[in-house]
Amino acid sequence: MIKLAPSILAADFTRLGEQVTAALEAGADYIHVDVMDGHFVPSISFGFPILRAVAPIAQQYGATVDVHLMIEQPDRYLEEFARCGADILTVHVETCPHLHRTIQAIRELGLKPGVTLNPATPLNSLEEILPDIDLVLIMSVNPGYGGQTYVPASTDKIQRLRQMLDAIGSTADLEVDGGIYTHNAAQIAAAGANVLVTGSAIFGGPNTVAENIAAFRHALAG
Ligand code: DX5
Ligand code: ZN
Repeated sequence: MIKLAPSILAADFTRLGEQVTAALEAGADYIHVDVMDGHFVPSISFGFPILRAVAPIAQQYGATVDVHLMIEQPDRYLEEFARCGADILTVHVETCPHLHRTIQAIRELGLKPGVTLNPATPLNSLEEILPDIDLVLIMSVNPGYGGQTYVPASTDKIQRLRQMLDAIGSTADLEVDGGIYTHNAAQIAAAGANVLVTGSAIFGGPNTVAENIAAFRHALAG
């Protein structure tokens, strides 16, 4: 079963609770929280107060709070993100010179560590850390904004990562993030992803959140 991780970056912030609840009612598995610092990525999104507001709603539904840190020096903030209700903390390899230490710190806080890489960052940067993590996030756009177009080379990268995970018997999530719509979701899942992050396709457009999630389930059912 492919998991859906709606990204609240694309939600209507004047009714964030309502939108998150609609996604959870419709069966969202994870709630994806995109934290941007204006340094590692050009834009600034949001941080602790929004996570603190959203996490308890996800918890009520037994959903996973999936926090994607697009920030420099994430080590400085891990503890506070844990306190605000994160379940998974995903850091960028590009921001972590001591990645193993960062992953251990996340684990020691009782959270699941994830690692992500930009489209131009090679998979071999993960080789040594792969046995220690619970999630790998393949960025299928350059991080920083919602609503971008899926980078086609990501599909091959997902296939190669799936082989790497299988080769070591890892059960880590293989999550993909950026430019995912109903027209490419099945292809991304077939390449080996088991968690799909979707912002615009769930919170944007004319249809309701429930309709959008149902459309993904339909697309993924083949
Ligand atoms: C991009 C973020 C994504 C983004 C996905 O930097 O990490 O999670 O919100 O949004 P869409 O689905 O609109 O590409
Ligand atoms: Zn993200």
